[in-house]
Amino acid sequence: MSAPVASGAVARRETGDDCTLVLVGALGDLARRKLYPALYRLAVDGLLSPRFRLVGVERLPHDDASYAKAIGEALASATDTGGPVDPAAFERLTRGVRYVRGDLTDASLYGTLCATLESIESTVPTDSRNRLFYLAIPPSLFLRVVEGLSSCGAAPRTHTAEEAQQGPWTRLIIEKPFGRDLASARALNTALLTRFSEPQLYRIDHYLGKETVQNILAFRFANAIFEPLWNRGSIAHIQITVAETVGVEGRGGYYEEAGVLRDMFQNHLMQLLATTAMEPPGTMSAAAVRDEKVKLLRAVRHFDAVSIAENLALGQYGTGSIDGTPVPAYAAEPSVKPDSRTPTFAALRVFVDNWRWEGVPFYLRSGKRLADRVSEIVIRFRRAPGVLWPAAERDTMRPNQLALRIQPDEGITLGFQAKRPGAELALSPEMELAPVSMRFSYERDFGGQPVPAYETLLLDAMIGDATLFARSDEVEQAWTIVDPLAAAADAGPRPELYAAGTSGPPSAADLLARDGFAWHPLTLAAAGR
Ligand SMILES: NC(=O)c1ccc[n+]([C@@H]2O[C@H](COP(=O)([O-])OP(=O)(O)OC[C@H]3O[C@@H](n4cnc5c(N)ncnc54)[C@H](OP(=O)(O)O)[C@@H]3O)[C@@H](O)[C@H]2O)c1
Repeated sequence: MSAPVASGAVARRETGDDCTLVLVGALGDLARRKLYPALYRLAVDGLLSPRFRLVGVERLPHDDASYAKAIGEALASATDTGGPVDPAAFERLTRGVRYVRGDLTDASLYGTLCATLESIESTVPTDSRNRLFYLAIPPSLFLRVVEGLSSCGAAPRTHTAEEAQQGPWTRLIIEKPFGRDLASARALNTALLTRFSEPQLYRIDHYLGKETVQNILAFRFANAIFEPLWNRGSIAHIQITVAETVGVEGRGGYYEEAGVLRDMFQNHLMQLLATTAMEPPGTMSAAAVRDEKVKLLRAVRHFDAVSIAENLALGQYGTGSIDGTPVPAYAAEPSVKPDSRTPTFAALRVFVDNWRWEGVPFYLRSGKRLADRVSEIVIRFRRAPGVLWPAAERDTMRPNQLALRIQPDEGITLGFQAKRPGAELALSPEMELAPVSMRFSYERDFGGQPVPAYETLLLDAMIGDATLFARSDEVEQAWTIVDPLAAAADAGPRPELYAAGTSGPPSAADLLARDGFAWHPLTLAAAGR
């Protein structure tokens, strides 16, 4: 796992292996907005091997030079390149860049691609002829491209994890969504695993690349004080929130097929749940970490028609405003049916039936067009016995709380009670208590923003570390949990409407109120930060 700390800070990350990165869907939204900025920053930090080569595959009319220019334009319009593009770094990224034009459904394209790879590799030693394929294309094309690559020998299969590490290696990065239900995910896995071995497959969930998510494991297992409390004995409940202010951003067609349960719960929220609740792995190896995550997902209580009604609240955003700007309802978005029943918000109560967590509710929520863009894990501890304090004080005493802020304003805050200063109420039951907090902030303590997820994930794929990628059984286990929920949403009535710019439908609050709890406020202001 490449040590992801802010650029220029102490820890040095490992340089990627010599390789040719074949970016399929080279001029799509993801490539422009996320992948080129990430590759560029790796070039800035000197983490691309001197033999790194980029091949773009697309159907738009370009040649090598105009493709390089298009990359430059993408970088110029990107927000996170850290300032004007450095020509030396740009040269490192685009040195010997090649463009392969064609339609991905056209078999002849793969012959051209193969020839291009051979010409690039003709000048490098055999064990440096490594190939990393990134499928930044609509999921409907994943299989077609995989068939094309393996049919022309562009992507040979390796048989063991060791072989997959040694050069020349071939690896495949596959974007989310991985399937749209358990059956299609299994079919995709089967098709992939007939052509590649598992160690060659890198299924992306960019949340796993976030430093703040990786830090959950470090926070839990590198500090002795938290693990002893990390269980049903001390924790009353856990909230996992992934809130977006954006709407479907022109991806109505895709979103009508997916909805929030497939788009966010099956991957990001299940990964956050597994990372937060898993047992300590034997080692920090990819296999050990992923074994524990799968074990945790297998302990998640499954949903049936009755428990779905009791534990799932769905919503769909209506008109409203975001940061003072009026926004349309989901049903009025392009490529969305006016009577769409697609949920853009979901809140879910989950139980993990194992020794550590029995009886502790996990509340998961995610939605679009909400009041704030925030991803956070809030751990609410059980109340301290109130016997020492008069009733008035007891009722206002807040339980201790740990907030792991994944984004923005990354950091960790511990909330606890303290004596409000004032000698007159010295050590006596009458002393006044006040909620205070201790805070770790990446910005303040590491002197900069955490490394963006795609940078870490691309580098890890180049060095052959799959710890931060989802394994086939993880993906399938997550679908096993989400499938009945998504099917119920598909078959159910139109979700409850909520105004854009709010915290979601009232039924989401009811889910916690029934258990005597309430959601941690979405907005920084409301959360007192
Ligand atoms: N965008 C994101 O922020 C984001 C985030 C997470 C995951 N993802 C995933 O990443 C993948 C790519 O998403 P995206 O948003 O980048 O999609 P996109 O903007 O549609 O990009 C896909 C690219 O593939 C090209 N393409 C499509 N069909 C082709 C064909 N038959 N032959 C040749 N080229 C073809 C498209 O060219 P045309 O323009 O000519 O169609 C387009 O440039 C998807 O699986 C998506 O779920 C995206």
